[in-house]
Amino acid sequence: MDKNIVNSFFITTPIYYVNARPHLGHAYTTIVADCMARFNRLMGRDTFFLTGTDEHGEKIVQAAEKNGQDPQTFVDGVSALFQGLLPVLNAANDAFVRTTDSRHKQVVQKILQKVYDSGDIYFGEYGGHYCYGCERFYTEKELEDGLCPQHKTKPEYIAEKNYFFRMSKYQGWLKQYILDNPDFIRPERYKNEVLSLLESGALEDLCISRPKSRLSWGIELPFDRNFVCYVWFDALLNYISALDWPDGEHFKKYWPGAQHLVAKDILKPHAVFWPTMLRAAGLEPYRNLNVHGYWLVRDTKMSKSLGNVVDPLSMIDRYGVDSFRYYLMREMHFGSDASFTEESFITRLNADLANDLGNLMSRVLSMNARYFGSIAPSPKLITEVDQELVNFACESMARFQRLFDGVCFSVALESLWALVRGLNKYVDGAAPWTLYKNGDMDRLSTVMHLLLNALYKIAVHVWPVMPQTAQTMLEQLGMGHLAGAGPKGALGVNLAEELESWNNVRPGTRVAASSALFPRVDAKPKEETARRPAGADKKSAAKVATGAEKGAEKGAEKGAGSRAEKDHSGQTEKGPIAFADFQKLDLRVGTILEASRHPNADKLLCFKIDLGEAAPRQILSGIAQYFAPEELVGRQVVVVANLPPRVIRGLESQGMILTADRADGIELLSVSGPVGAGAAVS
Ligand code: MSP
Repeated sequence: MDKNIVNSFFITTPIYYVNARPHLGHAYTTIVADCMARFNRLMGRDTFFLTGTDEHGEKIVQAAEKNGQDPQTFVDGVSALFQGLLPVLNAANDAFVRTTDSRHKQVVQKILQKVYDSGDIYFGEYGGHYCYGCERFYTEKELEDGLCPQHKTKPEYIAEKNYFFRMSKYQGWLKQYILDNPDFIRPERYKNEVLSLLESGALEDLCISRPKSRLSWGIELPFDRNFVCYVWFDALLNYISALDWPDGEHFKKYWPGAQHLVAKDILKPHAVFWPTMLRAAGLEPYRNLNVHGYWLVRDTKMSKSLGNVVDPLSMIDRYGVDSFRYYLMREMHFGSDASFTEESFITRLNADLANDLGNLMSRVLSMNARYFGSIAPSPKLITEVDQELVNFACESMARFQRLFDGVCFSVALESLWALVRGLNKYVDGAAPWTLYKNGDMDRLSTVMHLLLNALYKIAVHVWPVMPQTAQTMLEQLGMGHLAGAGPKGALGVNLAEELESWNNVRPGTRVAASSALFPRVDAKPKEETARRPAGADKKSAAKVATGAEKGAEKGAEKGAGSRAEKDHSGQTEKGPIAFADFQKLDLRVGTILEASRHPNADKLLCFKIDLGEAAPRQILSGIAQYFAPEELVGRQVVVVANLPPRVIRGLESQGMILTADRADGIELLSVSGPVGAGAAVS
């Protein structure tokens, strides 16, 4: 089957270990999967969303013992907690798989037998460094200072007879497959990580059994009753057992569109073990592996073993499920780590949701109530300004769809919010209150018609991320009939078609007279502020820096900018400057036309930027570790335009892009609404 014409979409989360209750890290992956499932449903793709729990292995036995329960009773209890979280997150999964399900066990045994019969499983002896936390052996090379790189604990050296999967046999095939299918593992940095792992040395065979004398809580090997299956070999197969491999209708329909979603902690099992296992069993590889970074709490991975977890339930209780979903999707640039703080959550809630979106909805509905008795008016003459707004809306929506499809969720939402902010500006510019005062009812009708329809467009596009808010918006816009009218409770719309039409809220429709989508949250959580380490404020305060300088700080290639003097501590000296010196800066807004990686420098991106001049400028910036180039095309950035050109690693840079530091990365300096390319910044 040609992979490019697959119209089914199968999205999975990792199946979570039931050795501890769910925390924000698990909630995040589940929410991303749900947003992807909802988005794909709206794009008209036949969608299946799978999540579940991983219930075998040593860790689970130990946790059950600690709890004074037998393993089965224990896993039933914790699995129920994971299942119970789904409706709270508003995650509409199609199935929930448990590795203790008998159907799953049968599939694992069938595959084991199949691979054994084909000669890819053999019996041998092995000695290795075993980490109980990871449930896997590490080679000497993989340890960091003799410790497990994940858990920072000393693994135990274990030598025993076991069964092995001939994974090494598939190394060459896997490498070639990854090279031939560039988005098989994404974002790109993880693909590169896997390629270098494959290139760095011979892939070892995988130990896939545990002697029952050491561990009995697992699936028995069909060809040797003295052993149970290694938990990872068992767990990965959930992705096909839940689809009723080999003959199930679901397997036939959804496997060709399979996409996995995981954090970087489990990259290797998904990017190496799993495709080679599939290959050995004669199955097609999945379509994409989507890998995200970690949620950090004060620079440390949030994890149960480190005792710094955030409880998703308490966040949802305090701020509502849609705000929580929006914050997680917007705050984390997919692929990079992000820091969770309640303060940044509140800031986003107030700025993006209460101020930008909530305020827009509220002012439009109350104006429409005052001027047209809450009935949608019909448009009259469409002016140039109106047409520009419609064009901008269509571009923003198209960009949102493209970026969301490419797992760039944060930038996709930013694109939609550029439209929300653009609409608020349009209201200010059109000044409906003055039109009303002057009795210009024709112009007022057109303006209100456009605003109501633009709000409808926003509602259907935010639905994957904030389903309840979208539903409320639609009801308030007199379009409530669309809620739940699509497959599996989706909206009865096709997002791709939304780019073509612009008259959904028809003249004469009754709309609500007011709206209060997101109340502002005023208080900063006291305890959160108190817990902040000294100096944290300084770190998170938005400090303007250049991407190129940033690269320089990290020892990378320096950018195109003039080098400021550094004091003895390595800090840039920033004494007062004369206003006349400041005026020498030529700062301009540019539109990114093209973006690509620098051919000879990992940290640099190479841009073609429209500054409203005869030809676009080529500008290099050391921001490759923060952004995928394709995310940035179309963005407006602030550029220092009067620096002398510099050649960096063989390419000329004709300016510098400005960025602002965040605790966990950087943001590009931009403008809050679209401006013409080359607009002066003063
Ligand atoms: N059982 C295995 C997965 C088997 S899949 C065939 C496992 N389980 S886990 O409970 O440890 O879940 C790990 C996953 O939880 C991560 O890959 C990620 O999806 C999510 N997260 C757990 N902590 C996280 C963060 N701090 N940040 C982001 N995601 C996190 O591994």
